[in-house]
Amino acid sequence: MRHLTRHLPPLMAALAVAAVPVSAFAQQAASPEQMQATRAVTGELLKTLSGKLQASMKENGPAGSITVCKTIAPEIAMGLADKTGWKITRVGTRVRNIDMGTPNVWQHKALGHLNADLKSGAKPETLEWSEVVTENGKPTLHYAKAIVLQTQCLACHGTTAQLAPGVADKLKTDYPHDAATGYAPGQLRGAVVISRPL
Ligand code: HEC
Repeated sequence: MRHLTRHLPPLMAALAVAAVPVSAFAQQAASPEQMQATRAVTGELLKTLSGKLQASMKENGPAGSITVCKTIAPEIAMGLADKTGWKITRVGTRVRNIDMGTPNVWQHKALGHLNADLKSGAKPETLEWSEVVTENGKPTLHYAKAIVLQTQCLACHGTTAQLAPGVADKLKTDYPHDAATGYAPGQLRGAVVISRPL
């Protein structure tokens, strides 16, 4: 490299030298199109899940819908992951499904940012946080879309008194380490998180 740059005009030489360290640490931003596509996938996950959950709540009641949440939610996420090649999951501020819902270090940081933004008045519908990091030499977008608790979630995520009949017992058997009760409407419940190459 040193040998080569000696023969380049001064500006190009400066760029060639600068290019090595800069590209190694570059925080490339996602394009508006990439952000839109990422948002669309989180939107699809939340919409599909909410449709299936609402239909089941009507038909089977809350206690009878826990199984739906348990199988359908990961199924939808995995289906979208297969389709896109991205990593897609749901994580919680307090967790019910320990295997799938526990945030990693980045996701934990993202939840902290979302929580702070929510408390300072951000609109839940558009609340998101993202960052581009270099992974294995490639820019990777980490993206988190906030999931805020609504009244209809209380049957399964509210205080003990608010849980629908049979829900506490079913949770005890299916999720013995459940920490995802005691939420109030408007609180940050978690996030849909995506990791994808740019
Ligand atoms: C019928 C009961 C039920 C209702 C109603 C319900 N949930 Fe859940 N929720 C569950 C179960 C069961 C899981 C664990 C799913 C799994 O095993 O992946 C879960 C998991 C989650 C997770 C993933 C993180 C974790 O803790 O595992 C989020 C986020 C979440 N729920 C948000 C909500 C929101 C927001 C609502 C209301 C719009 C809602 N839930 C309504 C039962 C319910």
